[in-house]
Amino acid sequence: MIREVSMAGCCGGTTCGIGRCFGHFSRRYTRRYERRGLEATQKQLVAGLREVGFDGRSLLEIGCGVGYFHQHLLLRGAATAVGVDLAEAMLTEARALAARQGLAERVRYVSGDFQVMAPALEAADITLLDKVVCCYPDAPGLMAATIGRTKQACALTLPRRHWFNRAAAHLGAGLFRVVGSTYRPFVHDPTTIDGQMRAAGFEPAFEARTLIWLTRIYRRASAPPVAAG
Ligand SMILES: C[S@@+](CC[C@H](N)C(=O)[O-])C[C@H]1O[C@@H](n2cnc3c(N)ncnc32)[C@H](O)[C@@H]1O
Repeated sequence: MIREVSMAGCCGGTTCGIGRCFGHFSRRYTRRYERRGLEATQKQLVAGLREVGFDGRSLLEIGCGVGYFHQHLLLRGAATAVGVDLAEAMLTEARALAARQGLAERVRYVSGDFQVMAPALEAADITLLDKVVCCYPDAPGLMAATIGRTKQACALTLPRRHWFNRAAAHLGAGLFRVVGSTYRPFVHDPTTIDGQMRAAGFEPAFEARTLIWLTRIYRRASAPPVAAG
């Protein structure tokens, strides 16, 4: 049974803060996509996923927002997708967007905190985390849950850990505090995430950057690494 996080009964904690904050922007996400299409980082991820191969694969997008990224992949050969998001308003947009593109039968949307609900979800061939780890305080926990639901490859976008992003996250955290939101942006260390992926038996298969973002795809190595000792 999937435990859903209801924003109506919000606990006032961090995860509710994330859901409320992004829920406010759901219409804006749809409008931006309809006007401008994929973002630069998402085009990079698609290029990397073409190299890794997504034809006929099942997708699990964590923090899927309004869903257009996995829907783009479904229209180009991926088989099915499950989208998970803390913001119910994002999923309402995602369902409508999927229906408009004739994808309703191939997608399923689940509301709640992925780290909490991961054990109740089926593993997918490819997991997607596009600008999501930076919203969540417990990056190792979120990555561990993702790894546990990844059969073949994991594609992610993280903020690069340079002074500008760290200053922006610091400033952003202050602003959210002032407006009474419990949401905080984070610049987690990509090196730590890389170590966690490798320790779980994944190897880097693709990497690209913009000024702000780092996109990476990890592929499950054919055999898990041999334990030391
Ligand atoms: C910056 S938005 C990106 C949305 C989408 N990936 C995109 O690029 O358009 C981050 C999204 O991740 C969701 N999110 C963050 N942490 C989450 C978690 N632990 N479980 C499910 N959704 C999460 C937020 O609600 C938000 O919609």
